[in-house]
Amino acid sequence: MSKILEMIHITKCFPSVMANDNVTLAVEEGEVHSLLGENGAGKSTLMNVLCGLYRPTSGSIKLDGEEVKFSSARDAMAKGIGMVHQHFMLIPTMTVLDNCLIGAKDAGKLVLDRKTTAEKLSELIEKYDMKVDLNAKVGSLSVGQRQRVEIIKVLYRGARILILDEPTAVLTPQETLELFEMIRSLTENNFTVLFISHKLNEVKEISDKVTVLRQGCVTGTYKTDDCSVEDLARLMVGREIDLSVNREECEKCEVLLDVKNLVLENAEEQKRQLDDICFEVREGEILGVAGVDGNGQSELVECLTGMQVASSGEIMYKGRDLRKMKTREIMASGISHIPQDRQKTGLIMPMTLVENFALQDYYCKEFGKCVYLNWGAVEDHSKKLIKDFSIKTPSEFELAQNLSGGNQQKVIIAREISREPELLIAMHPTRGLDVGAIEYIHQQLVEQRNQGVGILLVSTELEEVMKLSDRIVVMYEGKIMGMVKPSDVTIEEMGLMMGGQELDSIRIKKAV
Ligand SMILES: Nc1ncnc2c1ncn2[C@@H]1O[C@H](COP(=O)(O)OP(=O)(O)OP(=O)(O)O)[C@@H](O)[C@H]1O
Ligand SMILES: [Mg+2]
Repeated sequence: MSKILEMIHITKCFPSVMANDNVTLAVEEGEVHSLLGENGAGKSTLMNVLCGLYRPTSGSIKLDGEEVKFSSARDAMAKGIGMVHQHFMLIPTMTVLDNCLIGAKDAGKLVLDRKTTAEKLSELIEKYDMKVDLNAKVGSLSVGQRQRVEIIKVLYRGARILILDEPTAVLTPQETLELFEMIRSLTENNFTVLFISHKLNEVKEISDKVTVLRQGCVTGTYKTDDCSVEDLARLMVGREIDLSVNREECEKCEVLLDVKNLVLENAEEQKRQLDDICFEVREGEILGVAGVDGNGQSELVECLTGMQVASSGEIMYKGRDLRKMKTREIMASGISHIPQDRQKTGLIMPMTLVENFALQDYYCKEFGKCVYLNWGAVEDHSKKLIKDFSIKTPSEFELAQNLSGGNQQKVIIAREISREPELLIAMHPTRGLDVGAIEYIHQQLVEQRNQGVGILLVSTELEEVMKLSDRIVVMYEGKIMGMVKPSDVTIEEMGLMMGGQELDSIRIKKAV
């Protein structure tokens, strides 16, 4: 195989951070080359340099042995480099076809040849078995389908080097399998793929080589076959990782949250997004909600946190009906919420970390001073959280948008746990976190539980739910398929339930 790409001594400095420090990387044609590194190690920045979004402070890039200079993503695309970003960049109100047309070469022409474009796109979709409807509105697609649109978009524009930044973070296991099939058929056709993921088993499965970054520097490039998953973790974090959790048996305590016959109707589609949901969360227990993404979990959390009003049913929290309360009242009543979309509902991206840390409680005694904000108190609080949760940032005055994806997630978790909630509603809390950070967040969740906090943990990571939860409810198509204790079921049985199959009802009853 020949070297298709070389990044040579790349350094990228932001005003107060050196994100890439003298990075050299060589990639061969037709290989899948992974980048591994802790949150904030500089992976996305390096790839943004490669795809022309950032200009390197110094260093050079060679394609097929020839030096290239990009001053925009369009330049890089013209040379065959396309990137699917960590946070998607599609316009939800437009169709798949129109999203692919925006910014494409032909879009500059006076008359757009939509028919020819549609034909070319259909060929691509068929060749790589991508299963996407060109006329569907992007907003109506599942996350996995949206990602395929991003991939189709860059392939249509002529990419032969494809950069995928954490593509599997938001995918279901089935969608990940499909993506891997697609990657394999692309590399068989001589495409080269740069792949970023925190899921080490995926890196091991899909890539030929892996380059490890630590604090902006390359620590080495390895053949994936020569490394175990444990080796990869150690290379990345620089220490052994222990993902086992230590927790005492949960003693049945008072019921904190009691959800009865909850229904959410979708008038447009004439179907129930939540169908007769019943469960309770007690003090000092983690109740896991397992399920493939899109089976009502988001709607459930939105109803619990006041972002949607349920059509019928009861949500009793310490004797009060949450359905009758506004989001602010709910948050002030001892409930914390780690939302699923960190950029849309978790943070205000153009605001500083100090401001983001104060978002939920700025009006409370702790931070308020008459009608003013007690900035000194909020700043001290921010400094403490940045230290406790090892958030990688130059200071507490950095804008949230300048943090790496994983560090943005840590800001939300730190804020919500520090509010000392009685009930914590956590949706995909470890999505996008590196293994070291996952270890810390798992410990934090268990510690909260041991102190009596009730936790509703919604996650699509089956192993995470199985390991942390005292009991698990499985959701499928807006219904609860059953309630089980993790020790009473196997991962395979859980998988079947998540696919809509009912386990022997007697067995489930016994398990609870
Ligand atoms: N536009 C920016 N302005 C200022 N600093 C930035 C900017 N983009 C990234 N950084 C900083 O550069 C460093 C590397 O960030 P990067 O996003 O490349 O990390 P990453 O390895 O992709 O992490 P993650 O796994 O969390 O996505 C971080 O300290 C981040 O705060
Ligand atoms: Mg990143």
